[in-house]
Amino acid sequence: MPHPMRTRSTSDEWADRGAAVQIQRETDANGNVQIKTIKKGVKDFTFGRTLGEGSFSTVVAATDRQTLREYAIKILDKRHIIKEKKVKYVNVEKYTLNRLGNHPGIVRLYYTFQDERSLYFVLDLAPKGELFTLLKKLGTLNVECTQYYCAQLLDAIEYMHNHGVIHRDLKPENILLDENMRIKVTDFGTAKLLSLPKPAPSADADPSGTDASEPSTPTSTITPIEEERASSFVGTAEYVSPELLNDKSACKASDLWAFGCILFQLLCGRPPFKANNEYQTFQKIIKLDYTFPPEFPPVAKDLVANLLLLDPSKRLTIDQIKAHPFFSGIEFGLALWTRPTPRLAPNSSIPAPSK
Ligand code: ADE
Repeated sequence: MPHPMRTRSTSDEWADRGAAVQIQRETDANGNVQIKTIKKGVKDFTFGRTLGEGSFSTVVAATDRQTLREYAIKILDKRHIIKEKKVKYVNVEKYTLNRLGNHPGIVRLYYTFQDERSLYFVLDLAPKGELFTLLKKLGTLNVECTQYYCAQLLDAIEYMHNHGVIHRDLKPENILLDENMRIKVTDFGTAKLLSLPKPAPSADADPSGTDASEPSTPTSTITPIEEERASSFVGTAEYVSPELLNDKSACKASDLWAFGCILFQLLCGRPPFKANNEYQTFQKIIKLDYTFPPEFPPVAKDLVANLLLLDPSKRLTIDQIKAHPFFSGIEFGLALWTRPTPRLAPNSSIPAPSK
């Protein structure tokens, strides 16, 4: 694991390569547009507590020394990533986050830089942790809280899909909570990027090209030395869609399968498809072998049943989900991100799973 104390660049070359450039446009009092470049590197942050650890990365809380703003910095170990042939995932995560830079429900990437040993992704800090942890603490969530979190999740999924991104690994561990207990979707390393229609060149395009969202100038990604093996990605067993298991193909509706699994899980504390091992979980998924507890609210049951369908083309669309009676009274759009969070409470009619 790379240690934050060790991350100061040891040569001028690395100090230069390590600095990320952010272009900011500002309009002065006379209405003139000024282009400002902001460079950030390891030395511009104070590193703090560890927020999470994965096999290739560690997420650490950090403070911008100048602005005192707090961030979460994902530190990725370059040698390990290259050795384990995970370069593609790192690049995908960066390109995807750059594409999805402007939604309140998605973790935003502010800067990327590197030193000899590590890559650094400077992200929004989500200080209240994972939705998964909240669910474990409460056991279940009541209908009002489930509506609230699922409406936000759906809004974030709609934004991703409209920007040509399929997440492919949605699960309560990848849904973080900000200081106001609103969601921030994270972990785009296994996302699928769909090609977008090329926009016509516009007069106000960034002249430097440095904030281009996709591969032309990967300032702090690693260049793969050899072609990586075809991906054997399957996501997380409990949320994997049947089309991925049967045809090794994921589509936008695969995220809506995971959305159905998450809605089920929030209301009853366990995902619909769970067995003692991955193989048995996969068997349950491809046979659509799941049951609702008797106390499951009937309106939610109708929604879940119309999402957990083996044929992805038969699943409800995002617009149909928004119009479903489960979400009656919910105002989608900006209002979702400004209204107060409901009081967090479990579903008293469904027994929480034993810990
Ligand atoms: N753990 C992983 N990513 C995080 C983030 N952006 N904020 C807080 N904790 C995290």
